[in-house]
Amino acid sequence: MAAPDPKRRKHFHNKESEEFPVKFPDIIIFIVNARIQKIRLKKLRYLGRSKGFVLSPELNESVTHVVSELSSRDHVISVLQRICRSQRNNEFNAFEFAQKAELLSLSWYTSCMEEEKPVEITDEHRIPAKKLLDLDALEEQEGEDKPINRRFACQRITPLNHPNKKFTDALEFLERAAELRMGDNSRSRALAFRKASAALKALPEEVTKPEDVDKLYEIRGGNHCKRVISDILEKGYSSEVKGISRSPWYQNMSLFTGVYGCGISTSAKWCQMGLRSLDDVKASYVLNLTRSQLKGIEFYDELNTLVTKEEAAWIHDAVSREVAAIRPGSTVVMTGGFLRGKETGHDVDFLISHPEEGKEKDILGPLLQALTKKGLLDYTDIQNSTVNNTTVQKGADPSRYTLDRYERCFSIFRLPKTAQSIRVETSDPERTVEQIPAAMDVDPASESSDAAASANGSVIPGLSLLDKTNGSATSEGDILQKTVAPGRSWVARRVDFVIAPASQYAFAQLGWTGSKMFNRSMRDYANKVLNMNLSSHGLFDKTNNCSLTANTEEGIFELLKLEYRKPEERNC
Ligand code: CTP
Ligand code: MN
Ligand code: MN
Repeated sequence: MAAPDPKRRKHFHNKESEEFPVKFPDIIIFIVNARIQKIRLKKLRYLGRSKGFVLSPELNESVTHVVSELSSRDHVISVLQRICRSQRNNEFNAFEFAQKAELLSLSWYTSCMEEEKPVEITDEHRIPAKKLLDLDALEEQEGEDKPINRRFACQRITPLNHPNKKFTDALEFLERAAELRMGDNSRSRALAFRKASAALKALPEEVTKPEDVDKLYEIRGGNHCKRVISDILEKGYSSEVKGISRSPWYQNMSLFTGVYGCGISTSAKWCQMGLRSLDDVKASYVLNLTRSQLKGIEFYDELNTLVTKEEAAWIHDAVSREVAAIRPGSTVVMTGGFLRGKETGHDVDFLISHPEEGKEKDILGPLLQALTKKGLLDYTDIQNSTVNNTTVQKGADPSRYTLDRYERCFSIFRLPKTAQSIRVETSDPERTVEQIPAAMDVDPASESSDAAASANGSVIPGLSLLDKTNGSATSEGDILQKTVAPGRSWVARRVDFVIAPASQYAFAQLGWTGSKMFNRSMRDYANKVLNMNLSSHGLFDKTNNCSLTANTEEGIFELLKLEYRKPEERNC
């Protein structure tokens, strides 16, 4: 245990505990405020000082005993890390600190208060390492149903096409509606719908009676999801979906979140301001529209029309050609939904790299320039790389979906009309009415990704179910009319570029292949089963405080003790 720093103690005397004599100078206690009410914390600290203990108001190396209400060491360490950041103490390494200091539960502290002296520390007082899920036990429970009904979506095989689309469409519509609502629990409610949908997507048989879903993880306890499924089984559609999709609130939010660069909170603000149409937005004097939002309004219909595989292939060729000229030997891989076998997508995603570490640098800038020069780019939003030494460790917050830190660009591509003539011939209904995956808060491009509602409200995402049941809403022809863009030789399409160095390539590939739900479940699995942080940059073993490397996606699955899933099997 580190010897207390005398300077620190003096500091406490002056500031905090002048009125009480210090009886136990060798112990310096820090109480973690998480999960403790402010007023209770104050009392606890006062009590300690009054009994002659030293309580450090801040976290630093001199602290010998950390007291907390949190239930796992991991959690305590991550909170300590956060506290240090807020104290702007960048040198402090919470993991190393935790090896030296005692991490104790509040019960130790209260015993000390009762006995008015430091009580002996036993294992009962120490905060335990996180209880990990036991994989073998998990697999045993699952028995013959694997790999259909495993607990984590990344353990299952989830094909693109499955027989339960009418249910999953409805559930994902409700997921989106929950996100748009932005309430306290909206994220977790949205996730519950998505998890239920993911579970159904892995089922090879069609659900024909409510009991069919009882055995499924993720749905078992979810009465709301079961109600939706029963409703559809009974009537052929979900009244809840129908009700929400017809509500002015939803139609408005859909319309506005369909504007490229306009996220959920901006859309809600516009709604609150009484704006009801894109014309209202355009006419508003008070709004200070961003560059991307202006584009989003200008190309509203085109950017809300799904990109076809053929269009994506054309763009892939154009991009590959430029990259090859700029840096021979580079790789340009089309990732995202198209790699998972989708026929259409809300954008095209490219992962660019070079087998030689470092040679991936300075590709993006020249590439964008070259494409612009050829008249193929209309808008770019470039983000420089913020990768640093701790990215792998900090990059993944397993409880949330977090963006990676690669150099990247969200862009609007000018697709020549000659390259897209093919779309008129196809009659894939998915292209216009499919609900596009949920947006993420921080990504200005994907914020606008949802809601294919057109300016006059004729297309509403998630309505595919309704389309079939009441014959309303969209006809394919409407959309195609609008995408023709008279007077221009091109149409606008969204394209994402991301650049990854060779050393992190496999992780970037895994992350950018998706689906988002697959990533989310794999990260959750890594954390809960193996106590590891997985991100698009790497894999960090929190138990052993080290990062693990892999050169291929297969290698990552292996490190995670997971069966490999091909991209086409990751459509959860
Ligand atoms: N992704 C990411 N960081 C971002 C944006 C996306 O890591 N800033 C990942 C997502 O997790 C997803 C993949 O990149 O797995 C592609 O994202 P996106 O284009 O939004 O979704 P798709 O699955 O490609 O769906 P769509 O076909 O509709 O484009
Ligand atoms: Mn995509
Ligand atoms: Mn994308």
